Amino acid sequence: MAMTANKVRELLEEIEGEYLSGEEIGTKLGISRSAVWKAVTTLKKEGYDIVSVTNKGYALSPKSDVVSEDGIKKHLKNADRFNIVTLKETASTNDVAKKLALDKSEEFTVVVADKQTNGRGRNGRKFFSPEKCGIYMSVILRPKTKSITSAYITCTSAVAVAKAIEDNIGRDVDIKWVNDLFLDNKKICGILTEGAYSFEDERLEYAIVGIGVNVTLPSGGFDESIKEIAGSLCDREAVVRNKLIADILSYMYSYFSEFDYDKALCEYKKRMRLIGRDVTVLERDNTYEAKIIALDDEFGLIVENKNGERKTLRFGEISLRLKK
Ligand code: BTN
Repeated sequence: MAMTANKVRELLEEIEGEYLSGEEIGTKLGISRSAVWKAVTTLKKEGYDIVSVTNKGYALSPKSDVVSEDGIKKHLKNADRFNIVTLKETASTNDVAKKLALDKSEEFTVVVADKQTNGRGRNGRKFFSPEKCGIYMSVILRPKTKSITSAYITCTSAVAVAKAIEDNIGRDVDIKWVNDLFLDNKKICGILTEGAYSFEDERLEYAIVGIGVNVTLPSGGFDESIKEIAGSLCDREAVVRNKLIADILSYMYSYFSEFDYDKALCEYKKRMRLIGRDVTVLERDNTYEAKIIALDDEFGLIVENKNGERKTLRFGEISLRLKK
């Protein structure tokens, strides 16, 4: 975005919904009124909701929620630790992040897109990613602790996202093993963790944590294939995506700069309100009914089948369907 437009945006953001005339903006920034008008036009094209009222001037609507690096960093305490790339549209932010990781991008490089044309979910599923309805982002991690497991990364990320959503909407979120988040029994977030293991160093070289949150209901509703299970955080633009992204990143930063297995496990267990529930377990070549008994200390799920046999489910090609 042009520098002048950026300055006008910053000024309108600072006064949070109040009006400033073209002349006042021009005087503050040392530019002409026509330059202000041009900047406003650029901002509107970028998707900023700027209201102009005769005799009052311009104001940035509080509903204006354009995801941007500045907009995210404004809400981040340790903003300098993050390298944030925002895209209008991409096939999959996980793919972009993977390329950046292979190009040696640092830990906490984050890719965020307004829309994905080939959003990917677990087990080869698609992740519905319509424009501006959700948060589609991928975070590069480079864990230094050798003993860090993919279970820790995935489950801790689920806790970080759940806590950030809870802070923003003031309601409790459920975690469905392994890493789906639910609100009112509807899935509102999925996480796809991918990574590369270095056999030479015997450690994870990098992990990409791909997070998809359904923030608002798409105008045409959810795709037929998911409309029974998918939900969103709010019907209107009550959640500011820049703020929610920043809060998710803050929690991830604090969880991944320390390595506190017990804390993460405890926070995960608090939100995994599934103990005692009946489920269908879908393994790669086996499907069976079971009851959830407990979560073990490595985030494995202990289930009991109809014959009373217990089994611990680990990650991989396993999905659960909750019974009503
Ligand atoms: C799932 O529910 O199975 C996981 C969904 C993960 C979706 C996110 S959106 C950002 C990132 N990019 C992708 O292509 N997928 C993940």
